[in-house]
Amino acid sequence: MNAFAGQHMLSLKQFGREDLELLFEATDEVGRELAKGQVHRNLDGKVLMSAFFDKSTRTRLSHETAMLRLGGTVSGFADAAVTRATGKVRESSEDVFRMLALYGDVIVTRHPITGEPARAAEAIEGALLINAGDGSGEHPTQALVDLYTMRQRFGHIDGLSVVFVNDLRMRCTRSLLRGLRNYDCKVSCVATLGMGLDPLLRAEMEGAGHSITFHDDLIGVLPEADVVYSSPTVIAELKEDAVARRAAGELPLSRDLLEAVAKDTVVVLHPLPRGEELPTEVDDTPYNGYFQQAANGVTLRMALLRLMFGRLCGADGCAATGRH
Ligand code: CP
Repeated sequence: MNAFAGQHMLSLKQFGREDLELLFEATDEVGRELAKGQVHRNLDGKVLMSAFFDKSTRTRLSHETAMLRLGGTVSGFADAAVTRATGKVRESSEDVFRMLALYGDVIVTRHPITGEPARAAEAIEGALLINAGDGSGEHPTQALVDLYTMRQRFGHIDGLSVVFVNDLRMRCTRSLLRGLRNYDCKVSCVATLGMGLDPLLRAEMEGAGHSITFHDDLIGVLPEADVVYSSPTVIAELKEDAVARRAAGELPLSRDLLEAVAKDTVVVLHPLPRGEELPTEVDDTPYNGYFQQAANGVTLRMALLRLMFGRLCGADGCAATGRH
């Protein structure tokens, strides 16, 4: 069953393991089509509306590229300052989203206020909505890309040891942890000082039977890691004298540290943009999974858009599978 058909994409809490596997298989199919240069452009006529109230490079452009590659078109804004959402005659957020739903078939929105995409989804009719990151809430499509990249790299997600480092308050961490609940993984956390996991999220994970171990230094857990998930550290928030200006412990992620203690097969993932927590010296190593992760952003979002519109493609061609 296609649980994505006709549904908004707001949180990783909405979907279970079978749903994720359907999406990943659909993403594999998109990858094969792209490799052959024979993409089924089965979203011809659909319009994607970008509504970005906060900055983005990857999320907006990969969603737009995904829609264009599937034969649809894109419109919208990357800066709310050019709309009536700001300024002297400022209209309500609900009205902005109602307008977008009149013009487009799917709205992709990023908003600095946690929960705003969910409120927008309640306000609209006739269009689907994708949460492209809301405040400290969730970034569900990023987590889907992250999980897909792990599966692509290892062939499976069950059994992996995943180490989260740096600023664990990030919305991509929240979504990825919720996604990992569908799998049997060992999860460890190494937070930069003052940037630990939300205690409510920890309780949510443990309440669902998924224990997390916490560590002061990366070097203690790196030898067993299959995946190191590094996230941007908001350095500006650190106190001037904080020891933790060095990300995640005395020995932050580096090429030397990876070569000294990590498995040869470990992969470093990072949603980007990066700061000093992910040195460029790691780029030219087999540990670098983050550029593939960014590339997967288009492939997975193509598959997701197809599924949301009820279009499933396989070797036999495309079939309608749901309400849209
Ligand atoms: N990964 C991510 O969300 O990147 P952007 O902020 O550039 O969209």
